[in-house]
Amino acid sequence: MIAPLPLGVLISGSGSNLQAIIDAIERRELAARIQVVISNRADAYGLTRAQQHSVPTVMINHKEFSSREDFELALIQSLQTHQVELVVLAGFMRVLTPFFVRAFPQRIINIHPALLPAFPGTHAQRQALQYGVRVAGATVHFVDAETDHGPIIAQAAVPVYPDDTEETLGARILAQEHRLYPHAIRLFAEGRLEVRGRSVVVHQEPRVALATLRVPESNSSKKD
Ligand code: GAR
Repeated sequence: MIAPLPLGVLISGSGSNLQAIIDAIERRELAARIQVVISNRADAYGLTRAQQHSVPTVMINHKEFSSREDFELALIQSLQTHQVELVVLAGFMRVLTPFFVRAFPQRIINIHPALLPAFPGTHAQRQALQYGVRVAGATVHFVDAETDHGPIIAQAAVPVYPDDTEETLGARILAQEHRLYPHAIRLFAEGRLEVRGRSVVVHQEPRVALATLRVPESNSSKKD
């Protein structure tokens, strides 16, 4: 049996995607363990969600660092200390530089509330409404050096209705995010993702190279 994938989840706010991941793990639908939740904001409700499930939390306030690189170094050190193998950005509202991305090659994923490459950046739902699209959605992708740009793992589409507001459309997209993110993490945990240029191939079977990277669970943790 493969050991649970050690995750580090980065948040800035409500943490409803974090909650969806916690729930999927607790329902045993996702073989992963959240080693740490890191927030750059002390008032992020996601910190409370993590604590309610006995998940370790760390606050790293970007404002306390004189440069982006120093802030990212603190993030990297915390993630490494917690032996994180996959970095999960879940509403983390800081742009990460190539310095951070290089520390976890093809081991950082992000969820974005739009059908990328449409509407990257902030206020994706507002951008979609202003553009007048009929279909919106969510994207989970590997993170590369450009914002909201890396190879796409999974997408989900939702309709846009004439009377939609940012809030109603955002809620419809968020419901899909809560399904999509645990699904994408599961594919990674099962070693089924292979990046080929801009594309991500989803294999039916685990790829040996990834699956063997993780150490089997110790006897002491095999309770059932
Ligand atoms: C989600 O809609 C997520 O896609 C978005 O922030 C929200 C976080 O909600 N992320 C971005 O816009 C990143 N560009 P949550 O804190 O309730 O998970």
